[in-house]
Amino acid sequence: MTIPQKEIDDLLERVDIVSVISAHVPLKKAGNEYKACCPFHSEKTPSFHVNPTKRFYYCFGCGESGSALTFLMKKAGLSFHDAVDQLARSAGVEPPASSRTLNGSDNRHEAIYGLLDKAMELFQGKLKSHKPAQKYLTDRGITRETALEFSLGYAPDAWDTMQNKFCTSSAETATLELSGMLASSKGRSYDRFRNRLMFPIFGNSGKVVGFGGRTIADAEPKYLNSPETPVFEKGRELFGLPQALPSIRKTGRVLVVEGYFDVLALHEHGIRNVVAALGTSVTSDQVGKLFRYAEEIVLVMDGDDAGRRATGKAIRNALPFMEDGRQLSVITIPGGHDPDTAIRQDPDCFDNLSDYLVAFDDFLFEEVIYAGREVPPERSDELAKAFIGFRDLVAKIPGDALRGLLAVKLAATTGLDVQFVQSQISETRHGDIQALSTC
Ligand code: UTP
Ligand code: MN
Repeated sequence: MTIPQKEIDDLLERVDIVSVISAHVPLKKAGNEYKACCPFHSEKTPSFHVNPTKRFYYCFGCGESGSALTFLMKKAGLSFHDAVDQLARSAGVEPPASSRTLNGSDNRHEAIYGLLDKAMELFQGKLKSHKPAQKYLTDRGITRETALEFSLGYAPDAWDTMQNKFCTSSAETATLELSGMLASSKGRSYDRFRNRLMFPIFGNSGKVVGFGGRTIADAEPKYLNSPETPVFEKGRELFGLPQALPSIRKTGRVLVVEGYFDVLALHEHGIRNVVAALGTSVTSDQVGKLFRYAEEIVLVMDGDDAGRRATGKAIRNALPFMEDGRQLSVITIPGGHDPDTAIRQDPDCFDNLSDYLVAFDDFLFEEVIYAGREVPPERSDELAKAFIGFRDLVAKIPGDALRGLLAVKLAATTGLDVQFVQSQISETRHGDIQALSTC
């Protein structure tokens, strides 16, 4: 069933398009309108306009235009119905009745969301009555308040909890299959998560999109995540984002850690602007999402080789988002610790965080130019190779001032002429942009 245009128009009348868009784009007032650099194409001077009276946005550079509704669909990637729901919530009204009677893939998504939500409640209930799972949490220093704030739960040590609960109709069985809560072998389906502490992962729309589950009995693997489903793509989600948002907004900074327990432990010690990437290195989708809320991303890295590699990859994924004004830093947790064990050993260890941060470009310099040495390579051919490696990375940065400063730094370190370095970087950048626009 589609939503009548009249209902959508009524909703758009009530919504403040400026506040909807400014959650994603830093708008500046200009006369009766608001302006920003366009989020739909790459540009240096703002040609993206939002008109609050006429309730639309328009980009003079690329021609993108539309309402608050089209913006949420195009920029935040929401489905039509999710966008309508979000607008209704931000306007403080009930979603149009017909948005709740859905069809097609939206209907399927809604059914999966509904089931995951019920599964979360079920797991929360099970945790309340399962002493060993509670003890596990207590032993790891997690209080009941934190468990509640993150809606933690417990998946029982059984094979058929999901089927017993959620297979009352064939439609429900189909939804359960799609939700990722079952695994199957030799044609038989059974609970994917058994005897695990359950961490719900909340998506953009505030709904549960998947789970992480940690064994409480030393089973393998230690952590199990939901598989990719119609509503869950691991590389797009971050654990702990809704819980961290108020603190991220307040501090302008977000820490990205590796593990679920790192997020919980830091929260437990009052550090709340923390999220976890779900077991992969931070993707460009995740960086883009975080820079909507924070000016600075701090990658918290384990001190081992795997940690270094993941950080190098995360920084590379973040370069295309480095507008002037944004910051990206790395902090290394020393001594084989992770943030969870580090803060438990020394509750103050994150207090003077800023003193320990390494800027992303210093990290890259270390890796690409110095490569473990004290000084840049002496051989000219090696130095030229290192130069090219760094040049290609700098060329991905959209911030003009940042790119310029790194050109100066690169020139000073290699002994090459600044203008030569600048022109090399800008030629590479233009080559990259052309290659992008022709593919
Ligand atoms: P770690 O192995 O560093 O574990 O995995 P951890 O977070 O310190 O776990 P605890 O403290 O023993 O509970 C870091 C992250 O990698 C993913 C998880 O997201 C985990 O939080 N991971 C790890 C998996 O997805 N599967 C695994 O088997 C292990
Ligand atoms: Mn750990």
